[in-house]
Amino acid sequence: ARADVARRADELVRLVPDYPLPGVLFRDITPLLADADAFAGVVGTLAAGTTGPVDLVAGMEARGFLLAAPVAAALGSGVVPVRKAGKLPAPTASQSYALEYGEATIEIHPATVPAGARVLVVDDVLATGGTAAATVELLRGCGAEVVGLAFLVEIAGLGGRDLLPGLAIDTVLTVD
Ligand code: PRP
Repeated sequence: ARADVARRADELVRLVPDYPLPGVLFRDITPLLADADAFAGVVGTLAAGTTGPVDLVAGMEARGFLLAAPVAAALGSGVVPVRKAGKLPAPTASQSYALEYGEATIEIHPATVPAGARVLVVDDVLATGGTAAATVELLRGCGAEVVGLAFLVEIAGLGGRDLLPGLAIDTVLTVD
């Protein structure tokens, strides 16, 4: 079943050349999201990849939200939105990370992440790993335990795993 989910995902993730910049091959997940069976299969696969209890699922703005929330509901967990800087109203914890050019910052509400919470991180794409590594830092800064990370697509050639040493990483689909 897992292989079927991956094959269907591969068919439905649309490749858009030169978006948002020349030379970038963008992976557009909207056709997959719009396909009820494929979406359910991906959510079920991401939820099934973990072993042991999960208290919270953390998802990264914006596309990560679309997967993290249903995975959390499937696991019976809460959900933690990991937001781009300046979006959260209450006291935040921030983590900056390097982009190819420049820097980005993400934030969470630490009051929603208790020390010792077992957290699964879910996002649509693992590319350079900067977003995921910064998310792990934020969660660990709250005293949480990151029990694993689950991605719809891993772009293996970008080496994102190297920024996530010792962590369990589950991906539905791996591309070069
Ligand atoms: C994309 C993607 C991941 C991140 C992966 O998000 O959804 O969150 O980039 O890249 P990385 O592994 O190199 O850090 P993006 O910042 O494009 O935001 P969006 O979901 O709001 O479009």
